Amino acid sequence: MSNPANPPFIAIVGATGAVGVELLGCLERRGTPLSGVRLLASARSAGRLLPFRGAMLAVEELTEHSFDGVDIALFSAGATLSRQYAPIALRAGARVVDNSSAFRMQADVPLIVPEANGDALRTDDRLIANPNCVAAIASVALAPLARLRAITRLNMATYQAASGAGAAAVEELRQGTRAILANEPFEPQVLPHTLAFNFFSHNAAIDPDSGYNGEELKVMEELRRILTLPGLPIGVTCIRVPVPRAHGISLSVEFDTPLAADEARAALQGAPGLRVVDDRAANHFPMPSEASGQDDVLVGRIRSDLGDPSGRTLTMFVVGDQLLKGAALNAVQIAEALLAGSPALAEA
Ligand code: A2P
Repeated sequence: MSNPANPPFIAIVGATGAVGVELLGCLERRGTPLSGVRLLASARSAGRLLPFRGAMLAVEELTEHSFDGVDIALFSAGATLSRQYAPIALRAGARVVDNSSAFRMQADVPLIVPEANGDALRTDDRLIANPNCVAAIASVALAPLARLRAITRLNMATYQAASGAGAAAVEELRQGTRAILANEPFEPQVLPHTLAFNFFSHNAAIDPDSGYNGEELKVMEELRRILTLPGLPIGVTCIRVPVPRAHGISLSVEFDTPLAADEARAALQGAPGLRVVDDRAANHFPMPSEASGQDDVLVGRIRSDLGDPSGRTLTMFVVGDQLLKGAALNAVQIAEALLAGSPALAEA
């Protein structure tokens, strides 16, 4: 538990990356109590300065000694580096919140979205996994409904922003857009296809047996864990779309008994981390342009799924900033809950 007279020292691994920059931004914006921050990245970035609370902090090269004196390490530099350095950080006495896929399906590592399963976080947990961005965003909207009725089936389609593939993919989207508008040839280097004026199946590799790609498999298995519904049948199709930031998710949710759209909307309206944007008269529903940079996940198009005449299935459309709720914000909420020594939900 954190002692207010002795606030924690925090390290960010991957501080120069798309999520790392947002981690620092969340700590600043939320006023998370801390005694200092150590910014860690590759040797390429050593000495680079990043602003934090009115000062300029120098990025340091990640080494085996980077975790001396660190209370909490927020990792966002990919699964390989997490596998290599998280054990080192733990041995040095730090607690680790890991944004990579390295430990998410490890039974002894909690996979936490504070609004959905914050009560699964124990104050003595030392290694906590932060979910895949789609799983995190979807679970914020699904959790309040799972408290009304048992979810018995889930079908999803995603509309995923370029920044989910890193800052370089966003730059490629910009360059591709410019090239096409100028009638110039364009060859993508980061993504497998030109994203500008186009969309395509998510760039994660396809599992030849199931036909699902790696992103889809992560979403399915992680959602089952977060919702504690191990056998839940889930189908998902993940698509990369030409927007810079914020993922959209179309959800069709089947329950054990009928659930009226109005009852669902009322539950979503009061739920933490969610904002209902469901104005049928104005045809105004969740959009990436309005979700970008926002902590809240937007939810709308809440209606009965006419594909299921039993009344047991609802559909809705959710958009969330995948760099915030889908990554950095969620990790900082977990860290704050650990420091407060209370279930994450209370601090979210
Ligand atoms: P760097 O900027 O020095 O390459 P993204 O997810 O946006 O691609 O960011 C990945 C993050 O992981 C960056 O901060 C990057 O630092 C960091 N990183 C990549 N390789 C290493 C490494 N070998 N050691 C430490 N940090 C690394």
